[in-house]
Amino acid sequence: MFSFRKIWASVSVLVALFGLTVAEAVEQQKSWLVDSLPGIPDDYTQRMYSGNLGKDEQLNGDLFFWMFESANASFANRTIIWLNGGPGCSSEDGSLMEVGPLRMGGNGTFHLNQGRWDELGNILFVDQPKGTGFSYSLDDDYMSDNHEMAEEFSIFFEKFLAEFPERANDTWYISGESYAGQYIPYVASKLIEKDLVRLGGLAIGNGWIQPISHYNTYLNYLVEKGKLDLYTEQGQYLHHSWADCMLALEQLQSGSGDVEKCENFLYDIMFMLSDKPGNTCMNMYDISLESSYPLCGMDWPAELENLTPYLSKPEVLQALHVNTTYVKEWKECSNDVSNNYAREGIDSSANLIKDLASKIPIMLFYGENDFLCNYLSGEDLLKSLEWNGEVGFGNASWSSWYTGDSTDEPAGSYIQARNLTFARIAKASHMVPYDHPIEMKTLAAAFFDNDIQRLPTHPSEHLPDPGHARHSKWLYLSLLPVGLTVSGLFGLYVCRKFQLFGLKEASYEALPGSP
Ligand SMILES: *[C@@H]1O[C@H](CO)[C@@H](O)[C@H](O)[C@H]1NC(C)=O
Ligand SMILES: *[C@@H]1O[C@H](CO)[C@@H](O)[C@H](O)[C@H]1NC(C)=O
Ligand SMILES: *[C@@H]1O[C@H](CO)[C@@H](O)[C@H](O)[C@H]1NC(C)=O
Ligand SMILES: *[C@@H]1O[C@H](CO)[C@@H](O)[C@H](O)[C@H]1NC(C)=O
Ligand SMILES: *[C@@H]1O[C@H](CO)[C@@H](O)[C@H](O)[C@H]1NC(C)=O
Ligand SMILES: *[C@@H]1O[C@H](CO)[C@@H](O)[C@H](O)[C@H]1NC(C)=O
Ligand SMILES: *[C@@H]1O[C@H](CO)[C@@H](O)[C@H](O)[C@H]1NC(C)=O
Repeated sequence: MFSFRKIWASVSVLVALFGLTVAEAVEQQKSWLVDSLPGIPDDYTQRMYSGNLGKDEQLNGDLFFWMFESANASFANRTIIWLNGGPGCSSEDGSLMEVGPLRMGGNGTFHLNQGRWDELGNILFVDQPKGTGFSYSLDDDYMSDNHEMAEEFSIFFEKFLAEFPERANDTWYISGESYAGQYIPYVASKLIEKDLVRLGGLAIGNGWIQPISHYNTYLNYLVEKGKLDLYTEQGQYLHHSWADCMLALEQLQSGSGDVEKCENFLYDIMFMLSDKPGNTCMNMYDISLESSYPLCGMDWPAELENLTPYLSKPEVLQALHVNTTYVKEWKECSNDVSNNYAREGIDSSANLIKDLASKIPIMLFYGENDFLCNYLSGEDLLKSLEWNGEVGFGNASWSSWYTGDSTDEPAGSYIQARNLTFARIAKASHMVPYDHPIEMKTLAAAFFDNDIQRLPTHPSEHLPDPGHARHSKWLYLSLLPVGLTVSGLFGLYVCRKFQLFGLKEASYEALPGSP
C-alpha cells in the first residue's frame, strides 16, 4: 500500500531539489528534450519534453509527463494540464488523439491537429496515478483512492517544478475527461492546499463526478435522444432493470448490494439498443456509433489500433525517455490501477467542485452523444448543487454558441453562473476534442481567457431550449424512491474505460420480452 509516512520523508528531498538555480535546471532539462520522434511531420517545430521524472523511492514508482511548449508566444506563461480518466487510462489518448498538436491518423501516420491546445498554452500530459500508461509502480503498489492519487500528483508536481522552475509563475489550468471528473477536483484542491501553483481554472469533459447522477439519468438520456420509448415492452424491461440497479446501489450503502445489477442494466441497454441486438452493440461513448459485441465501444476510437503499437516501439520509448527498465510497452488502460482503485469505492467530487468554484472558474463540458457520462448527469448534479451562495443556475439562461466559422448549425449551448460554466457540444462523443476539435478549441480558448461570453451566439427560434422538455420524463422516473446519499461505492462503473466485471455472454438471450 501507498505510505504517507514515506511521502512526508520526501519533502526534504524536494526542498533540496528546489535549491537548483534556474540555469542548472535548464541544463538538466535538456535530458527531457525530445529531439526526434519517429514519424512526426516536419512542420511540427515546437519543443517538447518528456520522460519518467526519475524513480522516486518515496512514491515507490514514477510518473510520466509529456509537455508541449506553447506554439503561441502570447500564451508562453500559461500551462494546461490534461488528464485522461479510467482510473488507469493513459493521458497519451489526450496527447495524440485529442488536444495535443500531433494526431495519429487512421492510416497510422501523424498530422497536425487543427484543434491543438498548444496554441492556447503549454500543455502537460501526465500519466497518473502510477501504473498508468508510461508511469510505473514498483512492488504492485497502486493507489486506492482519490486522496492518495492527489497526494501522489502533488509530489510529482513539486518534482516537475524543480526541473522546470520557469513554469512556477505560470497560470495553470487543469483539464481532462471522464474519470478525470474525480482526478481534477482532488488534484486542484491539493495543489491549492499545498500552495504550489496559481490556478486559473478547471475544465472537465464528460466528467464522472457524482455517480448517483449518472444512474439517475441514463434512461432519461436515451428517451431524450429518441433511442428509447419507455412505454414499450423494451422500455418497461429497461425501466425494471434500472430500478433493480438503483435498489442495489441503495443496498450497497449498507454493504450488501449486488453491483452486478447495475452492470447488467448498462449491458442490457447497450445490447438492446443496438441496430442488430445480439450481433452489435451501442457504442457507450457515442450513441450514433455501433460497436462490435461485446466491446460496446471499448475498441473505440479506431486510431488506438495504430497508437498502441506505435507507443510500444523501442525507438519511441527511447525518444520519449521512458525508463525501459520498468516500462516495456504502452497500454491505453491498466486493469491493475483500476482494480486497486475501485476496491475502496470512489467519492463524489461534487463538494470539491462547489468549494473550488469560490476560488476559480470551472467549466463542465459534455459531448452530447456520450451515453456513459452524459450531459444529463451533469445537469442532474448541478441543478441541486449549491455553489457561491445559490442553488443551480437560478435565472441564468442558455445560449447557443457557434465557432464563428459556420453560420448555420450551433456548435452547442451553454449556461453560466457564479464561476461555473456548463457547456454542451452537439453531436460530440465522450472524447469531444477527438471528433470536434475546432469546436472544442474554440470553447477552451474562451474559457481559458475567462471569457465564455465572447463565444458567438446566434439565438434561433428553432433551437430547443436545453432546459425544457425533460421534466415530465424526470418526474416519471422519479416515481421510484431513490434517496441515495452521495458518497463512495458508486464509482464502480467509470467512464473511459468502462471495466468489464465478469461479462456474461448470454445476457442478451436471457432478457424476457425483448423484441
Ligand atoms: C531507470 O531508472 C533507474 C532507477 O532510477 C535508473 O538507474 C536508470 O538509469 C533509468 N534508466 C533510464 C534509461 O532512464
Ligand atoms: C496567438 O494568440 C493571440 C491571442 O489570442 C492571437 O491574437 C494570435 O492570433 C495568436 N497567434 C497565432 C499564431 O495563433
Ligand atoms: C512570461 O513570463 C516571463 C517571466 O516573468 C516574462 O518575462 C514574459 O514577458 C512573460 N511572457 C508573456 C507572454 O506574458
Ligand atoms: C493520413 O491521414 C491523415 C488524416 O487522417 C491525412 O491528413 C494524411 O495526409 C494521411 N497520410 C497519408 C500518408 O496518407
Ligand atoms: C516567480 O515569481 C517570484 C515572485 O515574483 C520570483 O521571485 C521568482 O524569481 C519568479 N520565478 C521565475 C522562474 O520567474
Ligand atoms: C470566482 O472566481 C474568482 C477568481 O477567478 C474569485 O475571485 C471570485 O470570488 C469567484 N466568484 C464567486 C462568486 O465566488
Ligand atoms: C438574476 O438574479 C440575480 C440575483 O439572484 C440578480 O442580481 C440579477 O439581476 C438577475 N438577473 C436577471 C436577468 O433577472
